[in-house]
Amino acid sequence: MTVLFADVVHSMDIAAAVGAERLREIMADLVDRCAAVVRRYGGTVDKFTGDGIMAVFGAPVALEDHAVRACLAALGLQEEAKRLAAEVESRDGVELLLRVGLNSGEVITGEIGSGPFGYTAMGEHVGMAQRMESVASPGAVMLSESTARLVENSTILGKAEMVHIKGSPEPMRARRLVAVAGRGGRIGQPVSSLVGREWELAALAGMLDRAIRGHGCVAGVVGPPGIGKSRIVAETAAIAARRGVGVFSAYCESHTTEVPFYAVARLLRTAFGVEGLDDHAAAQDVVRAQVPPADPADLVLLDDTLGIRDPAVDLPDIAPDARRRRLTALVNAATLARETPGVYVIEDAQWIDQVSESLLADFLSVVSRTHFLVLITYRPDYHGALSRTPGAQTIALAPLDDTQTAALISELLGTHSSVAALAGQITERVGGNPFFAQEIVRDLADRGVLTGQGGAYAFSGLVDDVSVPATLQAAIAARIDRLGPNQKATVNAAAVIGTRFDTDMLGALVDNADVASLIEAELVEQVRFTPRAEYAFSNPLIRAVAYESQLKSDRAQLHRRLAGAIEARASADENAALIAEHLEAAGDLHAAFGWHMRAGTWLTFRDIAAALMSWRRARQVADRLPDDDPDRMSMRIESRTLLCGQAFRLGGSGAETGFEELRELCAAAGDQRSLAIGMSGLVISQNMKAHRREASRLATELIGLVESIGDPTLTIALLHTAMVAKYETAEMAEVLRLAQRVIDLAGGDLTKGSLMIKSPFALAVAMRGLARWCLGIGGWKGDLQQAIATARASPDVTMRVGAMWFAYVIHVPYGVLLPDAAALRDTAETLSIAGQSGDDLMLDLARTTRGVTLVQHGGPERDVGLDLLAMVRERCVHETFSLTILPIVDSYIAREKARLGDVDSAIELARPVVDDLFDSGGCIWTALATSALVEALVQRCGDGDLDDARAAVDRFAAVPTDPGFVLHEITLLRLRALLARAQGDEVAYRDFRDHYRDMAKTLGFEGHIAWAEAMP
Ligand SMILES: Nc1ncnc2c1ncn2[C@@H]1O[C@H](COP(=O)(O)OP(=O)(O)O)[C@@H](O)[C@H]1O
Ligand SMILES: [Mg+2]
Repeated sequence: MTVLFADVVHSMDIAAAVGAERLREIMADLVDRCAAVVRRYGGTVDKFTGDGIMAVFGAPVALEDHAVRACLAALGLQEEAKRLAAEVESRDGVELLLRVGLNSGEVITGEIGSGPFGYTAMGEHVGMAQRMESVASPGAVMLSESTARLVENSTILGKAEMVHIKGSPEPMRARRLVAVAGRGGRIGQPVSSLVGREWELAALAGMLDRAIRGHGCVAGVVGPPGIGKSRIVAETAAIAARRGVGVFSAYCESHTTEVPFYAVARLLRTAFGVEGLDDHAAAQDVVRAQVPPADPADLVLLDDTLGIRDPAVDLPDIAPDARRRRLTALVNAATLARETPGVYVIEDAQWIDQVSESLLADFLSVVSRTHFLVLITYRPDYHGALSRTPGAQTIALAPLDDTQTAALISELLGTHSSVAALAGQITERVGGNPFFAQEIVRDLADRGVLTGQGGAYAFSGLVDDVSVPATLQAAIAARIDRLGPNQKATVNAAAVIGTRFDTDMLGALVDNADVASLIEAELVEQVRFTPRAEYAFSNPLIRAVAYESQLKSDRAQLHRRLAGAIEARASADENAALIAEHLEAAGDLHAAFGWHMRAGTWLTFRDIAAALMSWRRARQVADRLPDDDPDRMSMRIESRTLLCGQAFRLGGSGAETGFEELRELCAAAGDQRSLAIGMSGLVISQNMKAHRREASRLATELIGLVESIGDPTLTIALLHTAMVAKYETAEMAEVLRLAQRVIDLAGGDLTKGSLMIKSPFALAVAMRGLARWCLGIGGWKGDLQQAIATARASPDVTMRVGAMWFAYVIHVPYGVLLPDAAALRDTAETLSIAGQSGDDLMLDLARTTRGVTLVQHGGPERDVGLDLLAMVRERCVHETFSLTILPIVDSYIAREKARLGDVDSAIELARPVVDDLFDSGGCIWTALATSALVEALVQRCGDGDLDDARAAVDRFAAVPTDPGFVLHEITLLRLRALLARAQGDEVAYRDFRDHYRDMAKTLGFEGHIAWAEAMP
């Protein structure tokens, strides 16, 4: 146990100045305040010494962390004393200061003496605490060596000092208590001792032991509110603390579900120990010491996520997806490198925001190889990613059984005979929910139905006369309702802030906030002391009830003020989503719209899904504005334009964007530009979903629209989307025309019109080259070389990947270029760059380019290429990537199967691809897919195969094309030659082969030249 002595400095002088009467008054006030603080930390006031108090922690109830609690209380005493001193100073003109001393040790307690609780702490340790007090400086707290040793890890202490103590010849060591380090856990003493939960706790303790030995574990603790999730986590944390294992917690809040990064930032901040460190440079040092050597850019990303980035350092130009990959890699590496065991807690995951959820799911994937136990609590209605961690254990907390509930209630009520019947009634009512039981007892005590002290109540009425609240919510509501005006104002303001709140924010919302009374009433707990006091509702349900029970208009006021306070205090961009939430709750729709949009911009560089969500929120807000609001129309258009324009970045699934609404709004407002921007995004989305015909039709409309607007920069910025859609449907004459148009308008300016992509000009050059050779027009080589050279010189990843795609993916499969050393080098470089800084779309494009090149090259890395293509295929099928890539990949996989002799599978794979392309209205990949099918049929040469092959070739030959479309002509010659040979028609074969050879040479298609030469 730890003994605390607190004494007023020079009390005799004060007495002389103010008189004995007033001194008694001051002392009574001080003692009251001190006693409350001691109780708050689970201590017991042992006696009043006339000008101070003595308190013990750890007796009569054994408290595991008595020393830390005593430290917290000591600092709390000094705070109270300071507050009182300010009053005394102004009223009496005297200085009031307190000295506090602590000492820990084994103390024999017994019935000797006459302390208020019938026991007196004994032994020389008590004397030592008093001596510590006597050597403390006024206003300070001094710890004996034994206490210091116990709290070393959780406090900030002054240097060891040698102090001389009256009556002792030898000087002894002592240390001054400076602060208690921030703790995320609960500090208040639990209301009742734990009942039941034996196997659950044993299981968690077992997992903890395994984790300590290096077999980390993730455990989900599931149950309805009040059932004891947080309690069992706290019990596990106490076991961890006894084993010397640190505990780090993060909490999700019901109002931050749509605030991206909210939970993950908090968990990482506690995990790295920078929570509450306001000095960015210092915080960065702390983080650097814990991560393995890393790329400086990665460290900036980590700082940014932790909210400790030096604003003077630019965010590296990295797409959100790459940012996420790099961050995950870095955090996972740091996690794996950490050898000290730790318990990480994520509370109330049912409210987690999506970004945090998916990032945490990534981090959790390595836990089994660490020394960590990760505990996640959530309600049964949560089925998100964190409830499905592979290999995780789940502990579903059942209601307490009647015996357990009765035991709990009898501890709360006591054993006085008058309460027995009441206990039975409560047991029946609460359905095994310990929190409900507590709330009912508190309610009855508040109402005066119960008299006496907690744990020793008496009841003087008829059980039948007592109304017991029917639900947990009602019990809480009743208690809140009885609070005084000042406490109510405080609880209301706190509820608007969230489950956790600090004094600064509270101060911004209410004058004279009275948190102490709320703690006293066990509605709120203090959870952090330094650098800023932080509090939490004892249970999120209390917060919810306090929130709901307020008048909407009052609440709106608070939300508005809070939004202002957050903006003034913290980095505005980072908190834009949170500010928007509060403004929306305040009904301030204009401002909320602005902040949602601002959040969207901030998130564009961090998480695209989250950015889209912000724009969707902005759209909702704009729609809610009254019809006669002059800004309504423009706000509705602005949010939809961004949504429609950017949705494709999420991949083929490209969530709902509401384009038709945008179209109507733009028509009503005469806003052609916004319509064109939104339409461009839709063209890309439709194309990525392989809705080829629809994409091409929209592209035609877009071209007309853009030309009618007649703004050259906008034309350059948007036409490329139409170009890509037309390319997909093999409308090459149109591609050529559009490419030339962009090239002419850009006049060589690489970055003109860089709205959606960095360099529409560079893309146009690549596309012109492509269209030219498809149509048998000269000059394509020059275009291609220029495109590759520009791409290689460009620091921009989209430009690079895009140009490499159009340089290799079509040229290599179609025999225009050979997969030579330059191609191997370019595709390797591009893949690595895309992985480092590109979004997933870019990475998949780069993988496909690399995969196709490697397979076609056929060298030692062929299998690597196939793996890449298989990976891409997987992502196509799950619609996280463009479905237009599927026919390419499938053609390659079919060819590979045929090469390895599995011709049946090859045909099975290739046939539907061909059919599908015909059905969807013509495609640039029809030639490739048809080739793969015909080659396989010819190879198998079974019954009817050659007829099938001929039918496929004829069907292909009948595809309508632009005049001079040599891509199909030369493919056809090759396929006809293959077919003739298989049919044994030597004459026809030679004829086709020779034509094929000539054509390949005339066109200068390197691949075809090689293939033609290889024909017998
Ligand atoms: N098994 C138990 N024995 C005694 N008290 C309990 C038990 N489980 C929970 N409690 C108490 O009930 C209250 C609500 O529990 P808590 O863990 O906050 O619920 P949850 O996190 O599931 O909402 C707390 O005061 C807690 O100490
Ligand atoms: Mg909880």
